Amino acid sequence: MSDQALVGIVMGSDSDWPVMRVCAETLKKFGVNYEVRVLSAHRTPDAALEYASTARQRGIRVLIGAAGGAAHLAGILAAKTELPVLAVPMPSKHLQGLDSLLSTVQMPGGIPVATFAIGEAGAVNAALFSVAMLALGDAELSRKLSDFRARQSANVLAKTLPDLP
Ligand code: RP5
Repeated sequence: MSDQALVGIVMGSDSDWPVMRVCAETLKKFGVNYEVRVLSAHRTPDAALEYASTARQRGIRVLIGAAGGAAHLAGILAAKTELPVLAVPMPSKHLQGLDSLLSTVQMPGGIPVATFAIGEAGAVNAALFSVAMLALGDAELSRKLSDFRARQSANVLAKTLPDLP
């Protein structure tokens, strides 16, 4: 099996890793190879642009940008590549990630960024969405996704509540 990374996770700071770790863990559960970089739109703009503009030729198929605050990271990645770019708004100290969400989701028409929920739910779903896209051309991955969904449904249906009064 190739160890070619198919998903590139880009975080604006290593302080985003505690949230984004679950994104990497989810990809790993599906056997999808990924790479993780810390690249900032405002602290390392040239490196972030270089990463995005060379990602496709290096075999990356999906980019996931995670940033907080004035979260323009996913937008500048999308500006430099035609790969699908997913965004996970990071929780922020003063506005709990609402600033990150709004500055990521409101991309002007022409350069799309698919924005997910703030925090861990978004991190998991960005990974699952990447899996769904990659599964379109990968029967084994498609079967793994179907199995995951079936297990998830079975777990919900098997839940019992504590005795009601
Ligand atoms: C953004 O600023 C990062 O994505 C992070 O969410 C936020 C805070 O970064 P640090 O000050 O913790 O490095 O660029």
